[in-house]
Amino acid sequence: MHDRPKLQPDAVTAPSAANPARERPVIAIDGPAGAGKSTLAAHLARRFGFLNLETGAMYRALALKAIESDTSFDEEEPLLALAESTRIELQPQIEGNRVLVDGSDVSRRIREPDVTSAASRVSVHPRLRAWMVEQQRALGTKGGGVMEGRDIGTKVFPDAEVKIFLDAAPEVRGDRRYRQVIPRQTFASGQPASDPSEDPETAERHRLAQQAMLDEMRERDRRDRERAESPLRPAADAEILDSTAMTLEEVLARAEEIVLTHVPLQ
Ligand code: DC
Repeated sequence: MHDRPKLQPDAVTAPSAANPARERPVIAIDGPAGAGKSTLAAHLARRFGFLNLETGAMYRALALKAIESDTSFDEEEPLLALAESTRIELQPQIEGNRVLVDGSDVSRRIREPDVTSAASRVSVHPRLRAWMVEQQRALGTKGGGVMEGRDIGTKVFPDAEVKIFLDAAPEVRGDRRYRQVIPRQTFASGQPASDPSEDPETAERHRLAQQAMLDEMRERDRRDRERAESPLRPAADAEILDSTAMTLEEVLARAEEIVLTHVPLQ
């Protein structure tokens, strides 16, 4: 028998109107990669005193386990067996989720490109998704969570009190993701961040790296949107928040407004 992902204890305040079994509401945030879901989810969780749950981290954790055990990303049966014998823990923190796989902290490792790509491939399998959805429902059963992913409003919590679908144009998402990654790379190599406009060779290297990241993101988008089981799409009752031309502050303020129009929080 596998363990469920573990969570820290929850506080109880406003009861859920949509589902009396829940003690507090659920806020579902879905959208494509690089739209800013994690930043938004972390902000809303802080603002309203909720737990922030990154469901993508669970797919990433399993993908890492598949990489380490040489399990094919394309075969459902062995992946499901791997999932059932793996202990995945999400520990919500102020800045995001700490992720443990069989007790080891893999929070940084699962953000690396090989795991990112593998997570998108393992997440197409219907029975594996059903297993993940079961775990995620168990995590959110009491409510009081901001749950972020691709299918939260459509599949995991179709009765969530608040559903936000956060989107942005692919070029904008690619650019934001690139800016997140670059300082980490320059820091790791001990080099100061360079200004691409000063050195044509560096500028070209940055342009190619950015293009490669955008291509990879488009490929993941395609897989997420076109898969047969729970493809990425907004729930019929989701509020669409297109952040293409918005600042971060505007997105956060608008999302707070959306939450407050749906649930009686302070
Ligand atoms: O949100 P993320 O980039 O960490 O997600 C990693 C992969 O997991 C992504 O390519 C799609 C998949 N995913 C999913 O299919 N359903 C979710 N609820 C969350 C993530």
